Amino acid sequence: MDSNKRPDTMERITNKALADRFIEEQVAAVRKQVGDKKVLLALSGGVDSSVVAALLIKAIGKQLVCVHVNHGLMRKGESEQVIEVFGKQLDANLIYVDATDRFLDKLAGVAEPERKRKIIGAEFIEVFNEEAGKLTGVDFLAQGTIYPDILESDGVKAHHNVGGLPEDMKFELVEPVKLLYKDEVRVVGDALGLPAGMVYRQPFPGPGLGVRCLGAITRDRLHALREADAILREEFDKNGLAGKVWQYFIAVPDFKSVGVKDGKRYEGWPAIIRAVNTTDAMSATIEEIPYALLHHITARITHEVEGINRVVMDLTPKPIGTIEWE
Ligand code: XMP
Repeated sequence: MDSNKRPDTMERITNKALADRFIEEQVAAVRKQVGDKKVLLALSGGVDSSVVAALLIKAIGKQLVCVHVNHGLMRKGESEQVIEVFGKQLDANLIYVDATDRFLDKLAGVAEPERKRKIIGAEFIEVFNEEAGKLTGVDFLAQGTIYPDILESDGVKAHHNVGGLPEDMKFELVEPVKLLYKDEVRVVGDALGLPAGMVYRQPFPGPGLGVRCLGAITRDRLHALREADAILREEFDKNGLAGKVWQYFIAVPDFKSVGVKDGKRYEGWPAIIRAVNTTDAMSATIEEIPYALLHHITARITHEVEGINRVVMDLTPKPIGTIEWE
């Protein structure tokens, strides 16, 4: 039987009881597969890798070595959450690498979007390899592959998987959720006790804020983007939009406009709000956000974020605009 094919008889995991049964089966399967060997996992903090981490911690505890590479392009609070949930609460064997300077130095002056993506992907592999090289006795590599990744592996996702690992790594793969759809992975994550903010988070591209800090990334503009994005997320959360809108974020272009603050000329970047709905990310529609909330978000961002002096809303559906700006 092709182990990469979901059997027609496989029941959709829609509730805790089914998730618990799945977890029990996978815990047994993983224990059988890896025995007393070590397993390495690149833990980004996204839904898929987080669920795999929690599942493997349950199955093999400290035999799992999680590596979280902070590429400096995470959203506000994300790396901290990985450390809190996995390092502290679940007491995982977690290696945290703050590689911010390495990534930002390599990206300095690079404006071309695909080159930025390539640099981020290549540097990620480099950092991960370095960490893997320091470990001994690791025979297995765990991955948060899910069923749509298998179905789409010939096309769309290829350029998306920033963490794609080199083929010369001689590890046997452990992929416990590879036959699950995203909604099932979330139900399993819930059943494993992961925080809702982690399990139900919106999709976030592998290159992170790197493709939203448009053009050549600078630290000050990246900082402004991260702060503005945090405000948008907080307001969407508070106002019941977080569960309703598929993906929402800020992009900050690399030009300034004239403004005025405290009676003085104040040049700043615009923050562009993007909030879209979709089922498959192939096409997307624009979510209607109440004007009062948009005014409130604009006021907060322009008052609280150094360097931003305008807020604009992107009303472009996909097609013609892609979801991300780069
Ligand atoms: P676009 O911009 O192509 O995006 O309409 C469709 C979906 O894919 C996400 N996206 C990425 N995800 N690496 C990823 O892991 C990437 O390089 C990347 N580019 C876009 C995007 O956020 C949206 O959900």
